[in-house]
Amino acid sequence: MKKIGVLFGMENSFPGALVEHINARNIEGVTAEFVEVGAVHLDKAPKYAVIVDRISHDIPFYRAFLKHAAINGTIIINNPFWWSADDKFFNYTLAAKLGVAVPPTVILPHKQHPDSTTDRSMRNLEYPLNWDAVFDYVGLDGFLKPVDGGGWKDVYHIRSREEFFRAYDQSRDLCMTYQKTVDFKEYFRCYVVGQKRVHIMPYDPRRPHAERYVQNPPEYDKKLLKRIEKDALTLCRALGYDLNTVEFAVENGIPYAIDFMNPAPDAGLESVGQANFDWIVREVADLAIAKTKLYPQVPELRGAAFLGAEPTPAKVVKKSAAKKTAAK
Ligand SMILES: Nc1ncnc2c1ncn2[C@@H]1O[C@H](COP(=O)(O)OP(=O)(O)O)[C@@H](O)[C@H]1O
Ligand SMILES: [Mg+2]
Repeated sequence: MKKIGVLFGMENSFPGALVEHINARNIEGVTAEFVEVGAVHLDKAPKYAVIVDRISHDIPFYRAFLKHAAINGTIIINNPFWWSADDKFFNYTLAAKLGVAVPPTVILPHKQHPDSTTDRSMRNLEYPLNWDAVFDYVGLDGFLKPVDGGGWKDVYHIRSREEFFRAYDQSRDLCMTYQKTVDFKEYFRCYVVGQKRVHIMPYDPRRPHAERYVQNPPEYDKKLLKRIEKDALTLCRALGYDLNTVEFAVENGIPYAIDFMNPAPDAGLESVGQANFDWIVREVADLAIAKTKLYPQVPELRGAAFLGAEPTPAKVVKKSAAKKTAAK
């Protein structure tokens, strides 16, 4: 029996619905359940073929457990190695290189020294910083937000130099990005599953939380939607995420990708609404079930392979090990 485990935090609706949906399909040899984990023993392989991870970004113990599971053949949605390495500024730089529109963006040195460091740790820093060059490039209408953030935490909308410095002074030891504001007409949040399926959700971040997923949206330009679908796939394929949301703010018909490091995207019934919820439950179920066929996915024992190079099926690894032994 191949087990699909769901690892989750405070969310309520999605994990249970996913488990129920998979089990209700009665697929022979596949069953889903909530992950149960205690002390993790180095010499014991976790029992899951696939784990859908919704929370390890907040819980280092879970992240370490998932990496251990991955080296033992479990397929994790999403790859915990790559997710540990990723950040938003890398995302933007990659997007720009791939021809996806992104607003002018910089990263800035921490306002306060990170824990256990002093000004002596920062002797490579240009000082004073060339703020004029920053404001020339990004402008004075921008968003200051963490390079490794999510959930709108520590996000500031800046409209003047004074506002900028007030917000920067509050950013503690976070590494912040400062990004030009997209004066958007349309805004879309897209679920992307399995690097193949895209679900475009009109979203209005200017409304209160509960009303952001736009009901009864207007007709959108088909070309714009096509471009959004293509760009969302380009980004998720390049980053190797099997589950992600990609957010686009559209100004003058150009979709700017502004947030696409959401590998445990909001999937709460109460926020996304029934139709979006049903879509995401069904698609993630399909993906998790399909991934059980790859189990055990034995990675090559080198860093690049863990980061998400093409998986090597266990059969191939065994065969090549046998060949090597034969050649000796
Ligand atoms: N460059 C930008 N232009 C316009 N709005 C932005 C920009 N960056 C962020 N925002 C607004 O701030 C919100 C949160 O920023 P986002 O980058 O999505 O961070 P998080 O990962 O915390 O969701 C976005 O949904 C959007 O409404
Ligand atoms: Mg966001």
